[in-house]
Amino acid sequence: MIAASTYKRIPNIISRTSVKPTQFIRLVTTTKTPPSSSPTGLGNPSPKAVPIDKEDTEAPGFIKAKRAPFGIETKVYNNEGIEAQDDDKFLTPSPYPHPDFTEAGVYRVKFTHRPPVTVGDKVSYYGTMFCRKCFDFVTGYAVPPKDQPDKYIGTRWEMTEGKWMTRCIFLEAVAGIPGSVAGLIRHLHSLRMLTRDKAWIQTLNDEAYNERMHLLTFIKIGKPSWFTRTIIYVGQGVFTNLFFMVYLMNPKYCHRFVGYLEEEAVRTYTHLLAELNVPGKLPDFEKMIIPTIAVQYWDELTPESSFKDLILRIRADESKHREINHTFANLEQYVDRNPFALEIKGLDKPQPNNNLDVVRPEGWERKDLYL
Ligand SMILES: [Fe+2]
Ligand SMILES: [Fe+2]
Repeated sequence: MIAASTYKRIPNIISRTSVKPTQFIRLVTTTKTPPSSSPTGLGNPSPKAVPIDKEDTEAPGFIKAKRAPFGIETKVYNNEGIEAQDDDKFLTPSPYPHPDFTEAGVYRVKFTHRPPVTVGDKVSYYGTMFCRKCFDFVTGYAVPPKDQPDKYIGTRWEMTEGKWMTRCIFLEAVAGIPGSVAGLIRHLHSLRMLTRDKAWIQTLNDEAYNERMHLLTFIKIGKPSWFTRTIIYVGQGVFTNLFFMVYLMNPKYCHRFVGYLEEEAVRTYTHLLAELNVPGKLPDFEKMIIPTIAVQYWDELTPESSFKDLILRIRADESKHREINHTFANLEQYVDRNPFALEIKGLDKPQPNNNLDVVRPEGWERKDLYL
């Protein structure tokens, strides 16, 4: 029997619509900033009084960092800065409640790769890698060899807190596009052809929402420069139109392309987590509080959760996007049901779901699915 998983979420939606009082009062009850970091030296001032918009990386509200030429660095907020701009007044219940991830599940996520087989797979994979290599070169990103973890310190390849934020903000701003475009195209297809969509749209919109929540969380931690904003602005125009056109012609390989992008997202967040595990490597992230918007979105996070706890959840989200998009690329577009959203009970073999208990990082093959 087929039952939309939306119905299963009703209790969850209800629980999320109730305001969590502890989260909303965190701004006035929880201050993790050490007294010594007060700009006045007179204890913790009112967070709202911090002048976070001063264009100076040494202004109260930001961590002190080296300035890049032309001011193109992303400035990272300190705890006072994060609290000062934590706009708890307008937090709304999530239209796509986040599934529960276990602690063991988020730690189990690792980088995996689906070897490209068909020509379409190869175009998708090498296209992804070409974009990634160009972006890495331009932004000065490299993963140091395991036996030389300090190889890039002091060079343009060293990853500082500001550079991590530039990378995360840019990539999340792009990552929210495919799910939204694909969802729109399938929505229009359903209207135009007077037919059911078999629940792909909700998962695609959920993915786009999830990526936007990553972005909204990161912009509470880092403030991108005029340069990054310009690249995001222009990049969105180009990528959205390109993805729209290609998705109309070949949705299957668009999902494969996104699957490979998500593989790279998992790789990047795994690198960030490895750096967070080295004491003193990213000291400003180690002692950072997380924004209220993240506490509200991920059920397992609390106001006391660390930046690492947050990145573990974001990496797990990327791993589910990887699995979902590789699976979608294996399915008959506009024919097969979405097995992540339409659940069939009582089957004799495992089927996909939105949690981390049963996963196929390289995507579920069509022959293994009841469709
Ligand atoms: Fe993301
Ligand atoms: Fe993603």
